[in-house]
Amino acid sequence: MAGLIPQDFIDDLIARADIVEVVGRRTQLKKAGREFKACCPFHDEKTPSFTVSPGKGFYHCFGCGAHGTAIGFLMEFDHMSFVEAIESLAHSMGVEVPRDDSDQPARRYDELFSLMDAVARYWQSCLRESPAAVEYIKKRGIDGSTAKRYGIGYAPDGWSNLIDKFGGSAEATDRLLATGLIIQKDNGQHYDRFRDRLMFPIRDARGRTIGFGGRTMGDGEPKYLNSPETVLFHKGRELYGLYEARQALRNIERLVVVEGYMDAVALARHGIDFVVATLGTATTEEHLNRLFRITENAYFAFDGDRAGRKAAWRALENALPQIREGRQIRFVFLPDGQDPDSFVNERGADAFVKLMDSGLPLSEFLIQELSSQVDMETIDGRAKLAEMARPLVSKIPAGVYRELLIDSLATAVGLTALKLEKMMTSRPAASDRGLFAPAGKLRKRTRSAASGGPSVVRRALTLILNEPTAGRKLDTDLLAGVQRPGVDLLVSLIETVQSEPTITTAGLLERWRHDEQGRHLGKLAAADLPLDDEFDPAAELAECLQQLALAGRKERIEFLIEKQRVTGLSDDERSELAQRR
Ligand code: CTP
Ligand code: MN
Repeated sequence: MAGLIPQDFIDDLIARADIVEVVGRRTQLKKAGREFKACCPFHDEKTPSFTVSPGKGFYHCFGCGAHGTAIGFLMEFDHMSFVEAIESLAHSMGVEVPRDDSDQPARRYDELFSLMDAVARYWQSCLRESPAAVEYIKKRGIDGSTAKRYGIGYAPDGWSNLIDKFGGSAEATDRLLATGLIIQKDNGQHYDRFRDRLMFPIRDARGRTIGFGGRTMGDGEPKYLNSPETVLFHKGRELYGLYEARQALRNIERLVVVEGYMDAVALARHGIDFVVATLGTATTEEHLNRLFRITENAYFAFDGDRAGRKAAWRALENALPQIREGRQIRFVFLPDGQDPDSFVNERGADAFVKLMDSGLPLSEFLIQELSSQVDMETIDGRAKLAEMARPLVSKIPAGVYRELLIDSLATAVGLTALKLEKMMTSRPAASDRGLFAPAGKLRKRTRSAASGGPSVVRRALTLILNEPTAGRKLDTDLLAGVQRPGVDLLVSLIETVQSEPTITTAGLLERWRHDEQGRHLGKLAAADLPLDDEFDPAAELAECLQQLALAGRKERIEFLIEKQRVTGLSDDERSELAQRR
């Protein structure tokens, strides 16, 4: 099979493809305003509910929900594979699909990888020369060999260290930009993204550096700064430390998934090499896919607080479709106020492994969590539990595991498994729309969304998808540290439209085609933005970001106040709270 098709080629192809022509050659289209209409080719209907939007490069059927780009249409309608659809589209436009063996794109990727490597090595040498940085990693309990194994470095203070050292020509500067190592100002000048930070290289499965995470050594904000979304780096997919774990271990019998860089490095430092980190994003289906290709035994370590339970629950929901015979998923909760880093440094490796072994199996965590939400003493409560379990159980592939879980649930609610199964199938599934329910009338939602809840994220996603140019001038730093489902995705989308200013709705959808969250984006792209002149998508989007930033700040303050009450604050946290108030 031919190699990878470069993303920028797909972007370009999808931006230039005429979806009206692609669809129109196969289905009779009628012009209707700025869109085209037809009877849906994917389901039987008499009145047309299928629309094609040339502006977005996107089709959508209001009847059956089918939607997609020109590539998607060819895949659905002509039953082509992804690659075949690209080839067909390229052919009809008279261009050739670049391949790994045509040296152009391959060389470009090579150059980006070697730049990343050179920068990582440069920062490692800077670490050795910075007493403050060495002092910091020592203080965090990291020894020299662990630092070396993870390639930890130090980006010195200053605005142009990388530009001076690696930006000798226009092409070299372009490469620095493409890898997100430098940032371009409105006036065309550049500056280094990472300054005075401890640097963690993020490597792919082959050990090539694809991105960086940088931690301040003081109180600076944000605490961690990560590489933006680039052609090399897709945050929601990567498992930090996977390469290092594979290097260290011949057989990976189990993997423990933690949240942060420091957690992974600290565990490794104590000999727990079977560790990866999700880098502060929720555990996605894609992460799980990866994990289970490597090991059958996954342990998720979470903080013991409410936020940790919530994150664990999200991981559980994503894990359900991945359940198979032989796979084991356990949820490990740390004592309140601890993370794996602090725990292992305080109590040692054996205690951590013990904690892992006492982790809750997925089924137990599920039942425990549901039981805690109802009154198990009453029939109503137990019926409610069965009701809540239904959509979850239905996500598990049929098989022995599902049967066993139904058995355990039946025991918990005091029914026979047969009766419970009947109960669970009797009523139609409650709407399981999750975060990405259809956006509806955007205008009306503006006020109700003022609290910065998930609908603000949804609204922002809808805006940038429908009008990518609206994201060009936004400052994603505003969202640093805002912990909310969908925010990472939003940041990635904004970063993408900033690095690819000509990208279209369809282009964005294609970028996320292979992403778990991409499926939901299609629905949002189908929303109609108001047509009137006073509607300003860029201003609306900017407002969404402000609302999220505000809500994020508020939550952080509330969190710190609560923590102060319960366990007390560290010096850093105390000064943070004083500053924020
Ligand atoms: N993170 C991030 N950006 C932030 C904060 C966090 O990307 N502004 C990600 C990082 O990958 C970080 C992880 O979320 O490692 C967990 O964050 P947090 O728990 O706040 O930090 P710790 O891992 O505990 O970091 P440290 O121990 O260095 O304070
Ligand atoms: Mn920590």
